[in-house]
Amino acid sequence: MPLKNREANDAIAYPGSQPVAHLLSIPSRSAIRRAPLDTARTVLVPLELGDGGELWEAVESSRWHLERWLPWVPFNNAPEASVRYAEACVSDWDGGRAVRFAIRDKQSRELLGVVGLDSCVHLHRSCELGYWLKREATGRGLMTEAARACVDFAFARMAVHRIRCAAATDNSASLRVIARLGFRFEGIARQAELVGSRWLDHAIFARLSSDE
Ligand SMILES: CC(C)(COP(=O)(O)OP(=O)(O)OC[C@H]1O[C@@H](n2cnc3c(N)ncnc32)[C@H](O)[C@@H]1OP(=O)(O)O)[C@@H](O)C(=O)NCCC(=O)NCCS
Repeated sequence: MPLKNREANDAIAYPGSQPVAHLLSIPSRSAIRRAPLDTARTVLVPLELGDGGELWEAVESSRWHLERWLPWVPFNNAPEASVRYAEACVSDWDGGRAVRFAIRDKQSRELLGVVGLDSCVHLHRSCELGYWLKREATGRGLMTEAARACVDFAFARMAVHRIRCAAATDNSASLRVIARLGFRFEGIARQAELVGSRWLDHAIFARLSSDE
């Protein structure tokens, strides 16, 4: 049975052991399209094939702001690259590998950025939080709002047990978002990412479904 169709509370019972809940449970894109994640000022909707153009415009409008921290930005160098990214988002969601949302302004429905859960590992019920906002949408608390909804979705709807989040040790805006979301510091991964010509040390954080 495909992973995406398994229920999170399916259980494997080994002789002499308690049944163990296993596998993530990822709601379908169409289910979330019908009932998007709702925050005070945004809606989170699955990234779809038709979002390539808006994604490209968002990246183009904020290239200098994004490329300091996100290694893929220089490779996103033509509208086709954003279309391919949107295609990958659809395929990754349907294949149970990643869940990525467009963050849209609640009133205008303009695309403001992306928040998502990457590296979904069904066996360990874990994933990794990632996000970006276009420059003009920053400084208003929108990412904290959207990422909180995404984290709540992961625990409540996907049966995630552990969410990892990493930010460069000098990415203070991202570190403040992570702190506001209640993630716990776990350590430093040295030179974890090459962004442009700069090796970035990563501060690693996580939240567990059992954390207060
Ligand atoms: C990381 C990133 C998403 C953070 O954006 P941000 O605007 O700082 O984060 P938020 O949307 O949560 O906004 C928080 C800020 O808005 C301010 N704010 C203003 N009005 C607010 C409101 N009504 N509610 C909450 N916060 C508000 C807060 O004081 C806070 O500023 P501070 O951190 O200086 O105190 C953004 O800087 C970005 O896209 N960076 C480039 C990509 C990137 O680094 N991605 C992460 C890689 S790990």
